[in-house]
Amino acid sequence: MKVSGILAAAACLTSIASAAPLELWGHHGQSNNLVKGKSFDRFLFVVFENAGYNQVIVDPNFAGLTDRPDARLLTNLYAVGKPSLPNYFATIAGSTFGVRDDAEHNLGGMTIVDLLEAKGVSWKELPLCSQGTCYLGATDVYANGTAVKSSYRRVDNPFVSFINLQNNPNRCDKIVNAKEFEQDIANGTLPQFIYYIPNLKNNAHDTSVAYGGNYVKTFWNKYLHDKALMKNTLAFFTFDEDEDTEHNHIFGALIGGAVSVKPGSPKNVTDNTPYTLFSMPKTIEDNWNLGSLGTNDTFATPFKL
Ligand SMILES: *[C@@H]1O[C@H](CO)[C@@H](O)[C@H](O)[C@H]1NC(C)=O
Ligand SMILES: *[C@@H]1O[C@H](CO)[C@@H](O)[C@H](O)[C@H]1NC(C)=O
Ligand SMILES: *[C@@H]1O[C@H](CO)[C@@H](O)[C@H](O)[C@H]1NC(C)=O
Ligand SMILES: *[C@@H]1O[C@H](CO)[C@@H](O)[C@H](O)[C@H]1NC(C)=O
Repeated sequence: MKVSGILAAAACLTSIASAAPLELWGHHGQSNNLVKGKSFDRFLFVVFENAGYNQVIVDPNFAGLTDRPDARLLTNLYAVGKPSLPNYFATIAGSTFGVRDDAEHNLGGMTIVDLLEAKGVSWKELPLCSQGTCYLGATDVYANGTAVKSSYRRVDNPFVSFINLQNNPNRCDKIVNAKEFEQDIANGTLPQFIYYIPNLKNNAHDTSVAYGGNYVKTFWNKYLHDKALMKNTLAFFTFDEDEDTEHNHIFGALIGGAVSVKPGSPKNVTDNTPYTLFSMPKTIEDNWNLGSLGTNDTFATPFKL
């Protein structure tokens, strides 16, 4: 993240300046633009790569995500495709579109962004930014056009595969450098839907579950324990797929003020309900009364909060 963060930052400045003003939030209170949800007013998605439930649950930092009363460990959550890309599509569009590879796809379908925007719910996908336009190459590039190695990949940034996003400069402006997350918190301008993809080291793709876990500890824990930030928030930390098994059982943690606290405030509370990655769009749709994409979101089980 460091390398590309710094280098892409300059390229992203124009898009920051031209972005529509977002509602104030977090440390600075809330403004009028906020669209109240049934269970949460903000959804934070953070996705890691290529490890099964049993590999992840033994890592103290991933397991530690639910060591708090306002959290649930999902013990029965399944990815819906292989390799990575179809699972990313599932989280935003409720469908794999029959994709079974990590190649470049340009899809005509709708995403959760179509539903969110219709209700005025603000959003950002982080990080991917190239000169303020939708970046469609296979790998991220420096401002001088040189490919950035081991940073971000198009396949991990599912929104850019959708034509109705590629063709919409306002939507491209919402796909931003990772630094904007920290800036938005400092500025009190975090959007209500945040789709956050760590780089290929931090997401465990080029490294290990332990490396990803350490990144959770060093980068995310301070935010996840920030009371103002987590109030009325639902954070969902998961993995895109289990590379090693057919059944695709993955780790999932729900965290934040949106998660109900059981009497006696026990920690490490589990939820054994069978869920899939299609449960994610369903949960968001139910929360803001967005309707359905008409794909596999429709009959998916929403997360119990
Ligand atoms: C919850 O799980 C974590 C990780 O396994 C563990 O370190 C912690 O002690 C557990 N907390 C409780 C209250 O059992
Ligand atoms: C999603 O739903 C369609 C039918 O609506 C089905 O053909 C498809 O196999 C489902 N599964 C995935 C993983 O997209
Ligand atoms: C492009 O920029 C990067 C980062 O500053 C640098 O490492 C690389 O050598 C540059 N490549 C060229 C061809 O100038
Ligand atoms: C945060 O505020 C600073 C100072 O006003 C501004 O330069 C920056 O663009 C803002 N960041 C975002 C993500 O809006």
